[in-house]
Amino acid sequence: MTPTFELNNGVTIPAVGFGVFQTPPDVTATAVVDALGVGYRHIDTASAYGNERGVGEGIRNSGVDRNDIFIESKVWISDYGYGSTLHAFEKATGKLGFDTIDLYILHQPLSSSFDKTLEAYRALETLLGDGRVRAIGVSNFMPDHMYRLLSATEIVPAVNQIELHPYFLQRDVQAVNAQHGILTQAWSPIGGITSYRSSGGTSTFENPTIVGIGEKYGKSPAQVMLRWHLQEGRQSIPKSVRPERIAENFDIFDFELDEADLLAVDRLDAGVRAGPDPDLITLENTALLIPEA
Ligand SMILES: NC(=O)c1ccc[n+]([C@@H]2O[C@H](COP(=O)([O-])OP(=O)(O)OC[C@H]3O[C@@H](n4cnc5c(N)ncnc54)[C@H](OP(=O)(O)O)[C@@H]3O)[C@@H](O)[C@H]2O)c1
Repeated sequence: MTPTFELNNGVTIPAVGFGVFQTPPDVTATAVVDALGVGYRHIDTASAYGNERGVGEGIRNSGVDRNDIFIESKVWISDYGYGSTLHAFEKATGKLGFDTIDLYILHQPLSSSFDKTLEAYRALETLLGDGRVRAIGVSNFMPDHMYRLLSATEIVPAVNQIELHPYFLQRDVQAVNAQHGILTQAWSPIGGITSYRSSGGTSTFENPTIVGIGEKYGKSPAQVMLRWHLQEGRQSIPKSVRPERIAENFDIFDFELDEADLLAVDRLDAGVRAGPDPDLITLENTALLIPEA
């Protein structure tokens, strides 16, 4: 059986999920079918990805029972505010074609209007109370955002989904998450962002340390990185649209890295984010509106 993590409200989440950021809407359903076919049971989407419809279609085409699948989606910042976020949930479920979402999270803190961020989170608390979602959480929350949220709301987030790969560990964020029983979910877990938004350095897939560890176990760099997350207690959500990589990224449960390997990967941390600084994201510079279902 695939390992799981227990969230702080007792709900379980598969230890490795399937990401669909940048997966084009027309290939999303096929990718989701492929992922469910090789054993993934968690799909991580977002209203901002524009492919919730494809995720729902893939789930229905897969033949796997909806109740055996953990669906995660994210509210985009243009829908923050209590009433707007409740409506965003109706848009998301309308596109997915399911009444419930297992884990519904805020995609970003909106630093320029944190009151709206808090209102959005209060809407998630309502959805949880109403049984429309099984757990709620946040993404890209730095320690100061988390402290402000925790002091102003009732329910401790179940997860904080952050950029986390061998080149960017965000130990301070991980520590705050751990202190509050919040599961760290690693986005870009195999460092995809270090190749598709490269600033010129060696991608994680070509890193000699990671390649070398993989050679020792007969495993690929991606498998080494996903195993590293698992053994360090982080949930991960690798993305691919290629069937062979989708399968490869889930084939990590038959080997174990030793302490020296884990440390060697930890030491690759350069402390530099490849993704956007969460504090610099505003409604104006993203200008993305989420259509109705
Ligand atoms: N909360 C947020 O703000 C946020 C931000 C970014 C991502 N995410 C979530 O995290 C998920 C994963 O992050 P990500 O998509 O940025 O990066 P990732 O999963 O670390 O890497 C994906 C990239 O690596 C390639 N790839 C996949 N498997 C590979 C393998 N085994 N060997 C070599 N290359 C491989 C993929 O290309 P192919 O598809 O061509 O295989 C894609 O370009 C997203 O899909 C999304 O669900 C969340």
